[in-house]
Amino acid sequence: MKPINVGLAGIGTVGSGTWEVLSRNQDEIRRRAGRGIEITTVADLDTERARGLVGDRAKVVASAFELLDDPSIDVVVELIGGYGVAKDLVLKAIAAGKHVVTANKALLAVHGSEIFAAAQQRGVIVAFEAAVAGGIPIIKALREGLTANRVEWIAGIINGTTNFILSEMRDKGLPFDQVLAEAQRLGYAEADPTFDIEGVDAAHKATILASIAFGIPVQFDKAYVEGITRLQSEDIRYAEKLGYRIKLLGITRRRQEGGRTLGIELRVHPTLIPASRLIANVEGAMNAVWVKGDAVGHTMYYGKGAGSEPTASAVIADLVDVARAVTVDPDHRVPYLAFQSDALADVPVLPIDEVETAYYLRVRVADEPGVLADITRLLADARISIDAVLQREPAEGENATDLILLTHRSIEGRVQSAIQRIEALPTVLSSVSLIRLEDLN
Ligand code: HSE
Repeated sequence: MKPINVGLAGIGTVGSGTWEVLSRNQDEIRRRAGRGIEITTVADLDTERARGLVGDRAKVVASAFELLDDPSIDVVVELIGGYGVAKDLVLKAIAAGKHVVTANKALLAVHGSEIFAAAQQRGVIVAFEAAVAGGIPIIKALREGLTANRVEWIAGIINGTTNFILSEMRDKGLPFDQVLAEAQRLGYAEADPTFDIEGVDAAHKATILASIAFGIPVQFDKAYVEGITRLQSEDIRYAEKLGYRIKLLGITRRRQEGGRTLGIELRVHPTLIPASRLIANVEGAMNAVWVKGDAVGHTMYYGKGAGSEPTASAVIADLVDVARAVTVDPDHRVPYLAFQSDALADVPVLPIDEVETAYYLRVRVADEPGVLADITRLLADARISIDAVLQREPAEGENATDLILLTHRSIEGRVQSAIQRIEALPTVLSSVSLIRLEDLN
């Protein structure tokens, strides 16, 4: 069978890994795909660098749009990133009848509905394993391996930069800025690291996971996004004392009430997790995705969420899928979002006020009689049940102290209004720091 011809748009970190792994493992890959997979053209603005990498084994062009005019190219691999040129390229590739493989989580989370609809209409494949958790085959696992299940929830460490920062802050007591600079030096961080530290990158990935898990359209605008920039090192220490670790989790959960799905929670925020959980021990830049399905129970997927060859591993898996599926009638291929496109559910993504979880609350209070009683009364009035209380011993001569409360699960709106009342107490000397807590059962 004739090889699949690939046009590679962008030969940076992931593109060069894709070139390298495809060359190194070409025999093995051919035996699996049933035909060769050949990068015949590379498009990159830095043509000199691209030529240095591929020599005369592929044509090099400066504009990715040149790939679209070449009828011999079957698949365009988009590794440009962002929403601008990448969106234009992907839509034009689809219109030209070319299959697309992309690692672009931002593009799919924001414009996925438009892209999948265009691909469906044109009968082409859009594959995106590399967009979520790099080398971990989580898209494949959810779309195919777990297809028998009603997914209950997914909780993932899906941003390596923030996991690296939190691990280093906890282990070495290093300040945030110093660790971020190290993450950038090591190449984990996005070009704009605010996407990492403000939780946006993780929210792009969680948005895609939510769609595949629950069969809903991609809706990044409905995700609740909170990064790690407001996290204080004392919270990391107090969490540890209480037997928890803090991780930036992407969480998506089906909320059931009286046997019906009330909505889908879709949120990214720092989260306390019991230190004994496997996911609490995922350290450094590693990623992990924990999925709870009704039939399978708990499953967890761990690996490198970024980097040249780990991400190339996912890009090439998609190319092999394209090589195999290209001859299959489009209506019988694995659907883009795991569910048939005419069977997506119209359940709402819940606003953060309606989310249900447990909470860690830290507040600075005057060290006087009755302060704890006043706070717990306000929580009781809002029907919020307390699970644990920790009071830091005030230092010598200090008449203020930190009070830490862990609550049982409660609706966020109730917790937020109780916090407003707590902050109005004259004995409360700071705003309340809130970190959500999940025990992931
Ligand atoms: N900046 C991302 C991370 C890279 O830190 O995980 C992979 O998407």
